[in-house]
Amino acid sequence: MTSSPVLDVAVVGCGIIGVNHARAIARTPGLRLAAVVDDVPEAAQSLADLAAAELGTPRPAVHPDIESLPDGIRIVAICTPSGTHVELAERALATGRHVVLEKPLDVSMDRGRRLAAIAEDAATRGLSVSVISQHRYDPGAMAVADAAHSGRFGRVTSAVASVPWWRTQEYYDSGAWRGTWELDGGGALMNQGVHTVDLLLWYLGTPVELYAQTALLAHDRVEVEDVAVATLRFESGALAVLHATTAANPDQKVRLAVYGSAGSGIVESDQLALLAVDGDPADRRAEAVPEGHRFGDPKPGDDFILGHARQYADIAEAVTTGRAPKVGVPEALLALAVVRGVYVSASTGAPVRIADVLDGSASDAAVRTGGAA
Ligand SMILES: NC(=O)c1ccc[n+]([C@@H]2O[C@H](COP(=O)([O-])OP(=O)(O)OC[C@H]3O[C@@H](n4cnc5c(N)ncnc54)[C@H](O)[C@@H]3O)[C@@H](O)[C@H]2O)c1
Repeated sequence: MTSSPVLDVAVVGCGIIGVNHARAIARTPGLRLAAVVDDVPEAAQSLADLAAAELGTPRPAVHPDIESLPDGIRIVAICTPSGTHVELAERALATGRHVVLEKPLDVSMDRGRRLAAIAEDAATRGLSVSVISQHRYDPGAMAVADAAHSGRFGRVTSAVASVPWWRTQEYYDSGAWRGTWELDGGGALMNQGVHTVDLLLWYLGTPVELYAQTALLAHDRVEVEDVAVATLRFESGALAVLHATTAANPDQKVRLAVYGSAGSGIVESDQLALLAVDGDPADRRAEAVPEGHRFGDPKPGDDFILGHARQYADIAEAVTTGRAPKVGVPEALLALAVVRGVYVSASTGAPVRIADVLDGSASDAAVRTGGAA
């Protein structure tokens, strides 16, 4: 049996999530962390040191930028502040590499649309762009998606999504980019809540319209919201409530409940909290997911790494076989449109059509302090 060649990966942006990518890459068969890049050379050196000391792989090479990466690098993972994602992804694609982009896609719809076009063209040359949405790979989340998509919930009628987290003032003060419109692109919803928005769209399909309010209530020196609430209507007719905050002390568990005429599914703290299907009220969790993935089961200490590693396994297979990755630019662009739509609606006080955000006719410039797209 011949094994596939190892794919060399470069991590660009060596902060909190860049370290997690390095650890996830080290756990993924067929991938090797070969290079690291950061605007701050000490950050890149420090990730290279950590990789050599902890990950059991040769020390990755430190490079000043994407353009100086050696030819052997096949995948570039962008782990920099959100407002830099598209520019760096475009530079990586221009050098002929596959791209892994941290969420959110970016903070600007104009740039997001541009990347969608570039990624489509790159796909014709065999290059893929994956966007991190690691919770789509959680077994509990996958069980709910399967039931919603296969009709086992009957008609999906509504959903309630809540991200009730606490972030300290020190968190916002810890990086100049945090809490800014330019680079964070929003607050509790854009940064913390976008994973849950993505799952909501995965379960309920195409959103048509939303109405939202936002506020900044518990933090200083922050331009963006620490509370966002919205209602959404989907093409299927289903309705949803969305809530994201970094002002809920102490942190509570993220919960996403999907209700239908013949069944319902609830994911809480990334684990399956309820699965009822086919008009039968019995809880089917034990059949649907292995131990460790039901709400209340103890979670492994390396849970955060495992989520990214699951997505990297999909990315490695996609690159090796030439198929599209499961989460790409179109999915991430739709999630970004919902988040931007929330900011437009909260600024204008009026409902917003998602199609108008997607095509640019609901001007992003309407966002109160968010500037132009
Ligand atoms: N998937 C998840 O669960 C998850 C979790 C946390 C953060 N994130 C996302 O990851 C991104 C980074 O967040 P973080 O918390 O790691 O930030 P961070 O501030 O800890 O790290 C960012 C790093 O990028 C470097 N950098 C900035 N601009 C750069 C550039 N142009 N070129 C090269 N390096 C550059 C900085 O020097 C820093 O080392 C954000 O988009 C955030 O939303 C995702």
